[in-house]
Amino acid sequence: MSVTSVVGLQWGDEAKGKIVDFLTDSHEVVVRYQGGNNAGHTVKFDGETYKLSLLPTGILRPGVKAVIGNGLVVNPDALLKEMKSLTDRGIRVDGGNLLVSDRAHVILPYHIVEDAIFEKRSGNHAIGTTGRGIGTCYRDKAGRTHAIRIGDLYHRETFRAKLDEIVAFKNLTLRALDPAIEPLDADTIYSNYLDYADKLRSHVVDTTAWLHRSLKEKKNILFEGAQGSLLDVDHGTFPYVTSSNSSAAGIHSGSGVPQRAVTRMIGVVKAYTTRVGGGPFPTELHNEIGQHIRDVGHEYGTVTGRPRRCGWFDAVATAYGARVCGVDEIAVMLLDVLAQLDEVCVCEAYDIRGERTTDFPSHVEDLEVAKPVLRKIPGWKQDITHARKLSDLPAGARRYVDTICELLGVPAKFISIGPDREQTILL
Ligand code: IMP
Repeated sequence: MSVTSVVGLQWGDEAKGKIVDFLTDSHEVVVRYQGGNNAGHTVKFDGETYKLSLLPTGILRPGVKAVIGNGLVVNPDALLKEMKSLTDRGIRVDGGNLLVSDRAHVILPYHIVEDAIFEKRSGNHAIGTTGRGIGTCYRDKAGRTHAIRIGDLYHRETFRAKLDEIVAFKNLTLRALDPAIEPLDADTIYSNYLDYADKLRSHVVDTTAWLHRSLKEKKNILFEGAQGSLLDVDHGTFPYVTSSNSSAAGIHSGSGVPQRAVTRMIGVVKAYTTRVGGGPFPTELHNEIGQHIRDVGHEYGTVTGRPRRCGWFDAVATAYGARVCGVDEIAVMLLDVLAQLDEVCVCEAYDIRGERTTDFPSHVEDLEVAKPVLRKIPGWKQDITHARKLSDLPAGARRYVDTICELLGVPAKFISIGPDREQTILL
């Protein structure tokens, strides 16, 4: 039996979808454990490109069960639309291959309105959220009194009573913040959400109990992280983070599967660094090299289409992500994007107010003044997209990967040199 976890070690968008898809053949169950439809996974499969947001990547494979765990925040409308977009393309999505936890929390229309208002009022300190109501739903989860879980939708009377109370409160607070806001109508929300609940009924189960049975039956389970470790609400660059445990820390709380059940922890890293939204980014490149990486790497958000901020590989930040997750190995993605650069750099330490350190600062104000200490490596200036084994890579590219592994203290087991499955070097 193998219980494998694939987790991003940077600020998300590390191309985890490709590695998850790669490993899905040898797993029977693929589980998402945190986040919501803020995530975006692009997967190329059978010559087709699929953009997934809330659905686990495993949904694309016949025979695989995809699980949306208790740690997610689920927008049922978005989920149903995503399911339909797959069924329209001939992909099976039904109660037999997609399970949704009855403990997962529900995103309601007011969460999206609140997300927009909080961002607007934060001015220069806005987090740069995806605007999907993710953080505001998690806020209600932690606050408890205004939270609705998927299972609540099937207890009509209590759901209605709870909703009335919540909507009255939200109308008061939202209109105090912005009087121009249309009041929310509990009747409409109630009937829409009952409709969603009916459509999702065959999928909703106690996924924790289901996963425990799968463990007992020695099924191979794959955990699919969304976002990345540096966006983790506890361990990331707070407050410029998402609202869930997007490092491996979320596996246990977001699925009910004990951490010690995980037998293989794979950290996914991009060969450079990107970030969307606000927050410090020590190796960011505000020059033509940054733009070159953005263009060649198609670095625009899957969910929001926003251009991603691009910079050199930050080994201080990524090694921290690797330590928090306890990774056994890494997958180095998008190495081909750097192929035409004269010189490539890796940040091996920070200079913070004259002090050199390889510790990742816990406070955003320290990270804001961190100057990257760069190790320069000559570029290899050669297309590598046709490489299929390590020896096919030019010496410069191998040296670059070796440098990353040395600074992270973890071996690479995958190198990705293009979007297709075959464009993967296994080590
Ligand atoms: P939220 O998750 O929408 O609340 O956004 C919080 C922060 O996480 C923002 O900086 C987003 O850009 C970032 N974020 C959320 N989801 C992703 C993702 O899938 N990839 C990269 N960044 C993300």
